[in-house]
Amino acid sequence: MKNIRTFRKMKQEKEKIVMVTAYDYPSGKYVQTGDVDMILVGDSLGMVVLGYEDTLQVTLEDIIYHTKAVRRGAPDTFIAADMPFMSYHLSLEETKENAALLIVEGGANAVKLEGGKPSRLEAISAIVDCEIPVIAHLGLTPQSINSLGGYVIQGKKQVDHQRILEQARQVEEAGAFMLVLEGIPEKLGKEISEILTIPTIGIGAGRFTDGQVLVYHDILGMSDIQPKFVKRYSNLKDEIVKSIKKYSTDIKNKKFPEEKHIYKPIAK
Ligand code: KIV
Repeated sequence: MKNIRTFRKMKQEKEKIVMVTAYDYPSGKYVQTGDVDMILVGDSLGMVVLGYEDTLQVTLEDIIYHTKAVRRGAPDTFIAADMPFMSYHLSLEETKENAALLIVEGGANAVKLEGGKPSRLEAISAIVDCEIPVIAHLGLTPQSINSLGGYVIQGKKQVDHQRILEQARQVEEAGAFMLVLEGIPEKLGKEISEILTIPTIGIGAGRFTDGQVLVYHDILGMSDIQPKFVKRYSNLKDEIVKSIKKYSTDIKNKKFPEEKHIYKPIAK
């Protein structure tokens, strides 16, 4: 299994790091078999698996439950689990306890949390102090959609560019071993990746981050919307609907089950 030292070495040797999200036993199994470097049990599960409009309703229990399933499917892959909205905002005690639950109960190797303001830097340091590796997440942070005013690309203005750059330096200083950069201009993603010694993983952050992450359902064409930064490698949604319709038609037309699908009694 790769680990935080492997990821740092990969950055130094300019080997791209591949991260994919997974949410259950089969996706964990397929992602591990597909040779990714690390898995993220993202709170995007709220949208792509649980049918919520955003990630805000995802609970710690949801992430633990799904991380356990992913771990069963991907026993040999480094797994990071997302800390859900409000699980690291209230007190450092609660933050540490919640991070520990993701490791001890969920079976994750690391946790990820969003944001770079001073209270988040304290949260990162407190969790790292418990020997739990932390991934920071800056730029378009989906847990902040209400305060950002929607899923808006961040860091386009010079002042925001500078703020995110400064926060990137600070999350590294606070002890994060990796940084996810989401929804920012390529120029900013490149600049941050060059300045930091920890690896950066981009999603809609251009070509120059040290690695890339995409949501499992987006890669496989199982989501309804396709943002600009997504590259689809399959169209499983159409395949699934086509297969289910065919199954249904076969039953209605008495074409399934066939002779080969039935059991027969033992002849005396
Ligand atoms: O929740 C998630 O899947 C994420 C990635 C998109 C980075 O945070």
